[in-house]
Amino acid sequence: MLTAEDKKLIQQIWGKLSGAEEEIGAETLWRMFHSYPPTKTYFPHFDLSQGSDQIRAHGRKVVAALSTAIKNIDNLSQALSELSNLHAYNLRVDPVNFKFLAQCLQVVLATRLGKDYSPEAHSAVDKFMSGVASVLAEKYR
Ligand code: HEM
Repeated sequence: MLTAEDKKLIQQIWGKLSGAEEEIGAETLWRMFHSYPPTKTYFPHFDLSQGSDQIRAHGRKVVAALSTAIKNIDNLSQALSELSNLHAYNLRVDPVNFKFLAQCLQVVLATRLGKDYSPEAHSAVDKFMSGVASVLAEKYR
């Protein structure tokens, strides 16, 4: 579970990203498509070239959803309920892919934030993303 310190660190990290949401989201998606090519099969309708308008727009949406999750960090299930339905019933995204996206986000944060991305911050974001992934996957049960 996230400790009070974890929550503080996540909020701090997120605060440093403000204004760069689209870039961070797009880079995360680009890394995911590149490092885990099967993830591309969910986006046959997208232009998957680096920095495409669709990747940028989608990246913005994903980061905005994570921002909403952070604002509702004590109530993730409710905050992400719609997205959970979407990913489970409509998109049928195999839950293993949530880990890939989380892993790519970690790399993007680390490269952008350098020293500010301390092991403590890394650990907090890791726990947070696991929480988000569990909620997005909970409808599959
Ligand atoms: C759509 C968030 C993981 C595949 C979306 C949308 C959001 C979102 C906000 C847009 C919903 C809307 O337009 O109403 C997230 C978050 C994730 C996550 C927060 C994990 C932390 C994934 C993964 C995949 C995936 C791992 C597949 C590899 C899709 C697809 C769409 C979508 C195919 C529809 C895209 C479109 O046609 O516009 N997701 N997502 N998502 N997501 Fe996810």
